[in-house]
Amino acid sequence: MTKSTDLKARKTAAVANGVGTRGIYVAKAENAEVWDVDGKRYIDFAAGIAVLNTGHRHPTVMAAVARQAEAFTHTCFHVTPYESYVALAERLNALTPGNFPKKTLFLNSGAEAVENAIKIARYHTKRSAVIAFSGGFHGRTHMTMALTGKVMPYKRGFGPFPAEVYHAEFPQPYRGITTDRALADLDRLFHGDVDPKSVAAIIIEPVQGEGGFNVAPTDFLRALRKLCDEHDIVLIADEVQGGIARTGKMFSIEHAGVVPDLVTMAKGLGGGFPLSAVTGRASIMDAAHPGGLGGTYGGNPICIAAAHAVLDVIEAEGLCARAAHVGQQMRTHLEALARKAPCIGDVRGLGAMVAFELVKDPKTKEPDAELTAAILAHAEKRGLILLSCGTSANVVRLLAPLTIPDAVLSEGLAILSAAVVDAYGVDAARAVA
Ligand SMILES: Cc1ncc(COP(=O)(O)O)c(C=O)c1O
Repeated sequence: MTKSTDLKARKTAAVANGVGTRGIYVAKAENAEVWDVDGKRYIDFAAGIAVLNTGHRHPTVMAAVARQAEAFTHTCFHVTPYESYVALAERLNALTPGNFPKKTLFLNSGAEAVENAIKIARYHTKRSAVIAFSGGFHGRTHMTMALTGKVMPYKRGFGPFPAEVYHAEFPQPYRGITTDRALADLDRLFHGDVDPKSVAAIIIEPVQGEGGFNVAPTDFLRALRKLCDEHDIVLIADEVQGGIARTGKMFSIEHAGVVPDLVTMAKGLGGGFPLSAVTGRASIMDAAHPGGLGGTYGGNPICIAAAHAVLDVIEAEGLCARAAHVGQQMRTHLEALARKAPCIGDVRGLGAMVAFELVKDPKTKEPDAELTAAILAHAEKRGLILLSCGTSANVVRLLAPLTIPDAVLSEGLAILSAAVVDAYGVDAARAVA
């Protein structure tokens, strides 16, 4: 029995069934590579689900964390505050889109950031309704489950969910959902289900993560901005997965030139340490009374130190430009593969947030979840960590660290092609070869 198989058995016996895991038990990791407890090496195209934009154990992040651990590790910002929290708020206020006074609040997870953005929007507008989108994912707490537009595995069996949450269609050109159709759906919502004057917030992922790396078209985001202005609705950009340089800009909504009122971020911000934030218009962020927002660990000093280092690294190593380069390499590779393997119906994404969708037939576009799972399994056998996504679990997403060396990226992409051939069969093997 290997250490991995032993650990899988212990996990099954000791850990709650709902905590799904993949089979690789990690022993150590460095930049874009991971070694498991049996010494097998993997290339990491998951990056802890878009967390390690700066790679595993970036030396600058490690040094910042070690320095902070020498000084103090926790006080609770509400009890005895510290400068680094304030300084990081200042940096995010400056970095987020919008040339107006901003304020920031730190929390621990993406879900908590979204929860707080909704609390803030409701307090500010004195309205209760919230609009989210089909296929969107915002977390696993009750409010964020309600906002999420993907039943499995996130919602089944966990209701009832908080009320006053409505879902509109997210544009998906590959499946015929154009900007016009998505806007018509919002119009339907406003006439049939909820008065826009009762809506506190519209929350959108400018690039859907779990939903399948669907990129919101620029004209759609601009139309949302206009609707929010017309009806005094708070526009929240959920940048938990797409933010922090992943798409080639600090925040993915910047590609559309749209300025949201609030931005939620997490994942890449802490470079592997749990930290999330809500940043936005000071007039909205300041609505709630003192003590209404926060938590014991939000803005923990170790995580704040890591985030300062992450922002330093993004700047020093030009990681926005690097994201564009990594993304281009991935797209070129996948588009060539798709020309030969008709099971790949679509290649899409923004910057280094790239995915391909697997279908049983390119004409009917019937999702192929089994093939997707098989590609992931073959990739894992060959030493590549991949993730799937999409409401039908038929999309493979590539989220390599932005710091991945070119040689490791090429090696990973070659394994990916081999895994598609393994899973798809002989015809593709002949075509891809
Ligand atoms: C867009 C988005 N929002 C929110 C979340 C929830 O973040 P967390 O898992 O840190 O609670 C995620 C996680 O994948 C996400 O992708």
